[in-house]
Amino acid sequence: VAGPGEGLIFHQTTVIAAFIRVVIFVNRQVVAEPLHWHEHQERCQPRVQPLRNFGVIDDDHVVSTLFNKVNGAFGGVATFIIAEQEQERKARFDQRWFHSKGDFIMRYIKVFAPGTVANLGCGFDVMGLTLDGVGDLLEVGIEEGAGGLVIRNRSGKELPAKNEDNVITPAVMALLGAYEKPVRVEVTILEKIAPGSGIGSSAASSAAAVWGVNELLGRPFSGERLVEFAMMGEALIGGTSHADNVGPAVLGGVVLIRGYEPLDIVRLPVPEGFFYAVVHPDIVVSTKQAREVLPREVPLHDAVTQWGNVGGLVAGFALGDVALIGRSMHDVVAEPYRKGFIPGYDVLKEGVLAEGALAMNIAGSGPSIFALAADEAVAQRVAQRMRAHFARPGIGCKIYAGRVSNCGARIVE
Ligand code: HSE
Repeated sequence: VAGPGEGLIFHQTTVIAAFIRVVIFVNRQVVAEPLHWHEHQERCQPRVQPLRNFGVIDDDHVVSTLFNKVNGAFGGVATFIIAEQEQERKARFDQRWFHSKGDFIMRYIKVFAPGTVANLGCGFDVMGLTLDGVGDLLEVGIEEGAGGLVIRNRSGKELPAKNEDNVITPAVMALLGAYEKPVRVEVTILEKIAPGSGIGSSAASSAAAVWGVNELLGRPFSGERLVEFAMMGEALIGGTSHADNVGPAVLGGVVLIRGYEPLDIVRLPVPEGFFYAVVHPDIVVSTKQAREVLPREVPLHDAVTQWGNVGGLVAGFALGDVALIGRSMHDVVAEPYRKGFIPGYDVLKEGVLAEGALAMNIAGSGPSIFALAADEAVAQRVAQRMRAHFARPGIGCKIYAGRVSNCGARIVE
């Protein structure tokens, strides 16, 4: 069927179009378009992204030009090989990516969303940062024109058995509601931060799910909109839809939620060489419980202290002043009431600061605790000290230490 010549180009259009479709799919990762919501996000994105559309290229001119290039490079003989490879590849491709109907329907990507620390001391419900090296890994698939949401758990962690109790459901449903066209979504949770750890385990799942669906749909929504959708998952577990975990899980870096109505998010730069230590002790404190212990009203004196510290914290990040960050991470609104859930909290804090950490506080609603340091060795030492602290009364724990990250949700495959 193949050989050099003008007519061939015309007759082979369909074959080549199909071949191009296969090649596009096989090589589906191409250089990303710049993301529009923040330059930091663009910097920390992987250099590859999936194509928006895997459909057949119908433009005969494009097909002919590409065909000419291929033929020119390899000679007419190459066309035989291409045609045969096309059949072979298509057969393999059919098995994996085509539905039994023969239609090209379900498209999948793997998405990672990082763990996060909410509140950062004084920034109760309005600040959070992104952790490097810990997060959720999801496979997300969509089929446009169909309906339904399937969630599978292959993480080995215990998660709600019913879809409607999983944070992914309200987050994805909010996105699909705004999209206004039928889409079937399948999510497989492959790796999961331990639920209840206080380092944004629910936020990481909803962030990865909405990020993945948005990518597969061709990015109809901005990062801020994705945060709003993911917040619906937080509402399911905490009764309040706060964004201090989902904000950094989606966008990365340090995030300030200046306002909720309407949502106004500011991303702040992470200073160079900024490290965390986190301990997740084996004790259970639900977000609901941790919110219930908080007083409904804050005395004016405490309010003044708090907003002075929030201002200092934001200025510290904006100026890259780690000492200012450290001394501003002081909280009089939540920590005094929540620390009672954590055995020996004050003793541990004293020890952690003596170790050289800039600050220590409760991660989100707890029971995890985080510390920040300008030196990796200090962060490692602090993590060990945290472990030893809980080992003494026989409380098991997980420790994490690493770099504070600028990177939010992203495609990994
Ligand atoms: N800002 C929320 C709280 C975070 O402290 O309750 C929940 O992880």
